[in-house]
This record gives sequence, C-alpha cells and structure tokens, in this order.
Amino acid sequence: MELSSSSERQYNATKPSEDERDKSDKTYHKYIERISTLPVWGEDPRDKLYKYQNFWFSHYYLERIMFAQEHFRAQSSDIILSSAPKTGTTWLKALAFSIVTRNCFDDSMNPLLTSNPHDCVPFVEVDLAQNPPNRHLDHPLISTHIPYISLPESIIASGCKIIYICRDPKDVFVSMWQFACKVTQPIPLEMAFEMFCGGMYLYGPYLDHVLGYWKASLERPDMILFLKYEDLKRDTMSNLKTLAKFMGQPFSEEEERNGVSEKIIQLCSFEHLSNLEVNKSGKHRPEAPITVPNNAFFRNGKVGDSENHLTLEMKKCLDGIMEEKLRDSGLNF
Ligand code: A3P
Repeated sequence: MELSSSSERQYNATKPSEDERDKSDKTYHKYIERISTLPVWGEDPRDKLYKYQNFWFSHYYLERIMFAQEHFRAQSSDIILSSAPKTGTTWLKALAFSIVTRNCFDDSMNPLLTSNPHDCVPFVEVDLAQNPPNRHLDHPLISTHIPYISLPESIIASGCKIIYICRDPKDVFVSMWQFACKVTQPIPLEMAFEMFCGGMYLYGPYLDHVLGYWKASLERPDMILFLKYEDLKRDTMSNLKTLAKFMGQPFSEEEERNGVSEKIIQLCSFEHLSNLEVNKSGKHRPEAPITVPNNAFFRNGKVGDSENHLTLEMKKCLDGIMEEKLRDSGLNF
C-alpha cells in the first residue's frame, strides 16, 4: 500500500467538489421537508435538536444522515470507526490510521504529524455520502457517529467490519459540555446536565447509542469490535493488538521486536498529538457552519475527570440512569 501524501501538506480527507455539493444540496429539499415534521427540542436555531428514529440530531447532521441512509454505499473491505461524540473518536482514528498505514511512510512523514486525525479518516455523514470521491483509496477507514439502528443499510449488508468506542457517561457528559462551551457558546452546567439526562445530546440518548452497538457486537462479534475508552487508557498495548488483529493486520513477530506497536502508542498519545502545531492552532472543517479549532478535540484525556465538575447529586443521578439502562445488558462502566 502506498500513500501519495507527504507531511509537507495537510492529509485532507474532506475535500468536497463544488459540483457535487450543488447537486446534493438540491436533493436535500426532501430531507429538509421531512425534518420539519419531526419532534423538535430547543428554540435557538443553532441548538435545536430533532428526534429521528429515537435519537436526537442537529439539522446539519440529520440532513446528511438521511442522505447517507439513502445513498451511501459501503464496501465489504471498509472498516467503520463508530462512536458517539466525545467518547475517544479522535484517539481511535489516530490509532486505527496508524495501524493500517504503518508501512506507508517514514516516521517523519506521517500525516498525523501535520493533520488532525479527523482529517485523516472521512466521516460518512459529512464527507462521504454525498462525495464518494472522498473515499480514501489508500486506506479502508471511514468514521461515523450514526446510531446502530440508523446506519445506512449497505454498512450492515456489505459485512464490513465496525469498531465502536464508548466511555463512562459521566466523563462523556463533562467532555461534551466543555466542548460545547468552547466551540459554540457557554451553557450553564445544570442546564446541560438536564439535557444530557433527558437524552438530548447530539446523537443521544447516549446510553441508547452505546446499547445499540453493544447488543449488535454480542450478536456479531466477528463483525463488531466493542471498545471502552477506559480499557484503552488502562492497557493501550493489548487493545492496540486486538484492534490490529480485528482489522486483519496483526503485528508480526518482527514488528513486535522492532517496537512498532510502542511507536504507534507514542505517536497517538494525548501528550504527543495535543502538542503538535496542527492540533494547537489548526482548524477542522473551516467550510462548515461551525468550525472546530483542532485543540478542542484535546482537553485533558483523563479517566474520571467528571469528579472535578459534577456535584455528588449529579453523579448519583447519572449512576442511577446507568444502572437502570444497563441492567441485564452485561455492560458496565
Ligand atoms: P476530555 O474532554 O475528557 O479530555 P472525541 O474524540 O470522541 O471527540 O472525544 C474527545 C475526548 O477524547 C476528549 O476527552 C479528549 O481530550 C480525548 N482525547 C483526544 N485525543 C486523545 C488521545 N490521543 N488519547 C486519549 N484521549 C484523547
């Protein structure tokens, strides 16, 4: 496998052609009409959420999800990296990208040194469904936040592999709240908390998102690998090996001897990625309605940071929701 990119330029996975965007914008009318009939939460147009197939989405994402459901064509060789927002997507993308491209460039030319991980792996609902040419010919990774039940049919039908990452809801909530305050506008903690507990979270209810993939992974363990952020933090090495094996690219004995997996872990570590210039000062999706500074994807990357933000009552409340939702599922955090 050879990649054409060099570290001299951004490894940009998301370059829509203007023609394609125009074409797809026209077909969006029917989705916009359909969305106007859905249950809606919120008043500020920037924050409104719409309920579709039992999950809440912003207008921007929902139009694109509907389009993806109708038009996205998965290939059996695709590897889908799926997650709810703020669960470790950026890290998973970096690790998976490093695994599949590990023989493609010299260490000093690795695209992760000059591009944010989100720019290395295209996102189904925004980058790919309406612009199939954004598919990378040189690696099979594709990402999405779409809940399992709403995935485009071709993803399941193609039999492609799915890797899902999730995280303790308390840390997800705090991570999301901090992210929203930084990227959109400050929201009082209490208000954000009520919304999260009520399921009003982008692509939420969060635990329903997790349970959808959890149940599917129990039914199809050969096709769906279910990971937890906390496990990845606790034992990055064994999870990295599991990932590589699941993706059909296990580390060889020679690679083990040469410390390839250690190098990947170091390259993708929070400390390393967050200190790269591209992730300190770059921007993700400058053309989107909300441009995200790359540094918003890296806050502190710790397990249990919610302890520093939630009151005891909030913690108990979320623990209670978790206990009720996850009861008898075999899943816990
Ligand atoms: P915190 O806000 O708790 O720090 P996502 O990538 O799904 O948006 O999730 C973002 C969370 O993952 C943030 O958590 C962020 O700091 C953390 N994160 C990003 N890169 C990471 C890395 N390389 N290792 C560990 N955590 C990382």
